[in-house]
Amino acid sequence: MRNQCQILSWKIPSSKKLDNKLHSLCSYMAMFPPGLPRHFIEKYSKEGDKVLDPFSGRATTILESCLLGREGIGNDKNPLAHLLTKSKSNLPSKKRLISKLNDLEREYYGSDKINIKGEEKNIRMLFHDYTLRQLIFLKNKLDWKKRNVDAFIASMIVGIIHGNSEGYLSISMPNTFSMSSNYIKNYIKEFNLQKPRRDVFNILRKRLEKYSLDEISLEKGKAYNLDARNIYPLKNNSIDLIITSPPYTKVIRYGQFNWIRLWFLDKFAKDVDGDLFFTQSIDKYCYFMSEVLKELKRVLKSGKKLVLVIGDIKEKELANIVWERCAKPLGFKLIKNIKDEINDDRKVSKIWGKKRGNVTKIDRILVLEKN
Ligand SMILES: C[S@@+](CC[C@H](N)C(=O)[O-])C[C@H]1O[C@@H](n2cnc3c(N)ncnc32)[C@H](O)[C@@H]1O
Repeated sequence: MRNQCQILSWKIPSSKKLDNKLHSLCSYMAMFPPGLPRHFIEKYSKEGDKVLDPFSGRATTILESCLLGREGIGNDKNPLAHLLTKSKSNLPSKKRLISKLNDLEREYYGSDKINIKGEEKNIRMLFHDYTLRQLIFLKNKLDWKKRNVDAFIASMIVGIIHGNSEGYLSISMPNTFSMSSNYIKNYIKEFNLQKPRRDVFNILRKRLEKYSLDEISLEKGKAYNLDARNIYPLKNNSIDLIITSPPYTKVIRYGQFNWIRLWFLDKFAKDVDGDLFFTQSIDKYCYFMSEVLKELKRVLKSGKKLVLVIGDIKEKELANIVWERCAKPLGFKLIKNIKDEINDDRKVSKIWGKKRGNVTKIDRILVLEKN
């Protein structure tokens, strides 16, 4: 009865020593530990293969694929995720990055003083005027959609835009996600927080050293910013392996929790959340997943694997529901159903404490095969 969910227990083969530092370019909610995609890439693909993640997030699958000599193809509707995927799938050289940073800095000091008075109060309360001027200059100058060098610099900036040590640009706050502006306002008042005077160019140069870009050899990849239900640039039967975790909880609002990072990308959190899939209804979820799986079936080659990581929700084994109601009717074959018990350090929803909603500590990994 293989197709009746034979459940295997599993511990992610993880060794932080193996994790490339580029994974931490910018924090992202519900990100994979790199050991997870690495395991499946090594098991189910070979060098030169095309590996797709249609919900690529911070591009964990894509970076691991490119590091292992596969072509990593990422897609995510969230512009922040798209930026990170673009950066990690097409790394510029350290030389080009330093030269671009030097040019930008020269231009900044040669131009008129930037007026910060027009900037929203919510942004002004976070940064020292000196830092904010540099940020606004860079925000206007970096053409991250068109140029890889600019995309990598923009990724580094969103990675350090808020945090709680000298390597970050804002008043002291968590790096993982942005709290609401009202919460921050009250917090600043209560603890009399002072805005630190940080030099963006110097911090970026230091940060760049951390990634040892000259030592990395990477296959080039691709990044799309489309709805996962229609990744139209991908040809039928063109992909050798898909590894992904679709959005699955009510808890994560990628726009709202990244409103500061999105400000730098000139995007509004509300618009981003409006574009991303979000529901509490199992029926709507199943409808969405059926559409996604139809599209993934279209692009995947016959006999190749689709690895789906799905978090269980209270009282429901969501992965089993997805298998029964969405994947099985489409003719996928169930190869494995793996139960991955997650320690709280890894599950990003822990940051909400009691508000973690209906998320449990279990992720399930469905390994499916296209006939
Ligand atoms: C669980 S996260 C993936 C995290 C990723 N595995 C990583 O390592 O960072 C799910 C992703 O789905 C994206 N997303 C939500 N709705 C989408 C849609 N309709 N089409 C494409 N991406 C979508 C979100 O922006 C989010 O990045």
